[in-house]
Amino acid sequence: MGFAPLGVAYPWDAVVPLRERAATHPDGLVDLSIGTPVDPTPRILQDALATASDAHGYPTVAGPTALRQSVVDWFGRRRGVTGLTPDHVLPTIGSKELVALLPSQLGLGPGDVVVIPTQAYPTYEIGARLAGAEVLASDDPADWVGREEVALVWLNSPGNPTGRVLPAAAMAEVVRAARATDAVVASDECYAMLPWTSPWTDAVEDGGGVPCVLREDVSGGDPRGLLAVYSLSKQSNLAGYRAAFAAGDPDLVGQLLLQRRHLGMMVPAPVQHVMRVALDDDAHVAEQAARYAARRALLLPALLAAGFELDHSEAGLYLWVRPGEGLRARLEARPAARDRALCWASMDLLADLGIVAGPGEFYGPAAQDHVRVSLTESDANISSAAGRLRALA
Ligand SMILES: Cc1ncc(COP(=O)(O)O)c(C=O)c1O
Repeated sequence: MGFAPLGVAYPWDAVVPLRERAATHPDGLVDLSIGTPVDPTPRILQDALATASDAHGYPTVAGPTALRQSVVDWFGRRRGVTGLTPDHVLPTIGSKELVALLPSQLGLGPGDVVVIPTQAYPTYEIGARLAGAEVLASDDPADWVGREEVALVWLNSPGNPTGRVLPAAAMAEVVRAARATDAVVASDECYAMLPWTSPWTDAVEDGGGVPCVLREDVSGGDPRGLLAVYSLSKQSNLAGYRAAFAAGDPDLVGQLLLQRRHLGMMVPAPVQHVMRVALDDDAHVAEQAARYAARRALLLPALLAAGFELDHSEAGLYLWVRPGEGLRARLEARPAARDRALCWASMDLLADLGIVAGPGEFYGPAAQDHVRVSLTESDANISSAAGRLRALA
């Protein structure tokens, strides 16, 4: 088959010229484009890595039971999910590889349909195309319920790029629709520990928190056909370690495990150890979330003052903004808006200020007016960006 089905450019390459221009700003570049953590990996996790640095033997794909038990305990304590066992858990090498490979590893191909959100992290589509499956962008199960060819439905909550959190009832509706034709629901929840608004910020013990696809009010207490996908990249500043997991239907997990054993898809043993320590420690996660909350509190009012309007952004690492009426008129007059989606005019304006964001166009046709502004810069740079945006106003 070759690699031809993926002959698409890597989207972020298109941002390079804007980044180069932004870098010439006298006060320096503020890069709010890719959501890569900028704060140090917490000391407790760096120490855990050092402790586990003697890794002379091969790790297992499943990881030790103790790691999978930590995942089970984390689901209970942080997500309100009960009834899991270590057999419901699969460690993954970061979550991007799982997102990209899941359709192939489930054996999907031509004739199958993968449903993805209308404004979506691009890898859902890439993974479906890699498998040769068809993609349907939809946020409404009425668009596909009853269609036998729908084999996999991706949910992403909190969403990238939108920061939208799906209420449990909406997720449950998707699960019911998928089960009617035995489609798998995979729910990518990697921003779940970064909620900013109620009820998502409410205590899990009180029924709050970002709903998980495995929670009883979504799954009916049955993980059949369901996978929750989670990553430690964002909550624990571990993006460089590649530490993530999927959990849910034990039959699916077993199938994926077998295949990934054949493929040698092992999380390195020292990283498996770090994952366990990270999952058992809630304090560092709260500290990191507080850093992002402070940055959000600086950046959001500055974006609004500059004429942007906010959509969703209830959780996660991004502010999902589009120009309000006044700013829109000014942007449309810019040469950068000619023959291109409006997001590029916003990108152009921000580059003048030495700021790089993410163009909505990367996330689907429904997102062309928006830009995604990441909270992943140092406090000093976020503060500088806020000052530049306010000066614009
Ligand atoms: C929605 C979503 N899923 C998955 C990932 C991949 O995360 P990682 O591979 O670091 O676990 C990202 C990263 O930005 C993301 O935004």
